[in-house]
Amino acid sequence: MHLNIFAGKGGVGKTNCAVSLALHLSGSMDIKTAVIDYDGGHSVANTLGTTTLLSRNMVCPMKKNFAIAIVENTDFVGIAEAITKKWTLKEYLAQFPGEFGLIPLTDMVNAFFGVLTDTVTLQKFATLITLLAQLEQRGYERVIIDVEPTAGMERLLLNVQSTARSLTNLQNQGIISLSMIGAKWPHIAGYLKGDYIKHADKHAANIQHVATLLTNAKYMIVSTPEASPINQTFEVRRIIEKFGGKVHGYVVNNLRGEAHEASNISRLDAEGLPVVKIGRQAGLHSGKERTPILLNMGALIARELV
Ligand SMILES: Nc1ncnc2c1ncn2[C@@H]1O[C@H](COP(=O)(O)OP(=O)(O)O)[C@@H](O)[C@H]1O
Ligand SMILES: [Mg+2]
Repeated sequence: MHLNIFAGKGGVGKTNCAVSLALHLSGSMDIKTAVIDYDGGHSVANTLGTTTLLSRNMVCPMKKNFAIAIVENTDFVGIAEAITKKWTLKEYLAQFPGEFGLIPLTDMVNAFFGVLTDTVTLQKFATLITLLAQLEQRGYERVIIDVEPTAGMERLLLNVQSTARSLTNLQNQGIISLSMIGAKWPHIAGYLKGDYIKHADKHAANIQHVATLLTNAKYMIVSTPEASPINQTFEVRRIIEKFGGKVHGYVVNNLRGEAHEASNISRLDAEGLPVVKIGRQAGLHSGKERTPILLNMGALIARELV
């Protein structure tokens, strides 16, 4: 399974690129393809023009070779509130099946030790691990992730690394010393004896697998031909490369042939990577059938990805 990730500033056309590539690969190329909407909300479904209400955090097959999965946070009752509500530890932990089992740790570290952890990002990451495993199992060859704009993508990539590290620490000497802390903090002690830590090897391997998929992903940075999003492409490239990923190329989208565009585009051309150029598609907003336009966009992008 290979990942394609469209990164960049908000509003530049990431979702349209993700959906159009997916339609091209699944429709014209007969490749089993999924889009993961990691930017929340309905943008992938809206771009597709689907009116079906799609479940969250699940693989939703749309047509032959093509599925969507929308990642969205679900609320959980934090440990402090669970204690107030007189929940048993078992009731509290039951909120976190499978890959979500790492969340109680950060939640408790937050509550008991006042160490701020990014539980929301971690929760989305746990969903991503789960969804990728399901897609892999169902034979999806290509997964396109529509990530959040710059800062959100950086949070995801940073979290992948720190999560993998914290679980490794826990597995090594960490468990022993944390058990001692657990004598003072019975909830943590109970958690450490629970299923997630019992299967920490498996979970660590799953995290590592997703880290590898994200590192080997083909990243395309999307921009419009204005100075500000073009400037941001360089910052995005730095974030991806700091994580160990590789930028495969750029997409300059929504070209209108105006005078100021050429000098901005030439800054991307100078990077020596493929630059896909996509013109403004008036038809995207005319209420007409969008699929043929998206298929054309997808074919342009795919040409640079082989
Ligand atoms: N090539 C294009 N021509 C015309 N409109 C476009 C084009 N690409 C994107 N848009 C429009 O720009 C807006 C933002 O696109 P979207 O893909 O949602 O961006 P992002 O996911 O980066 O926020 C949408 O209204 C979309 O229809
Ligand atoms: Mg989007």
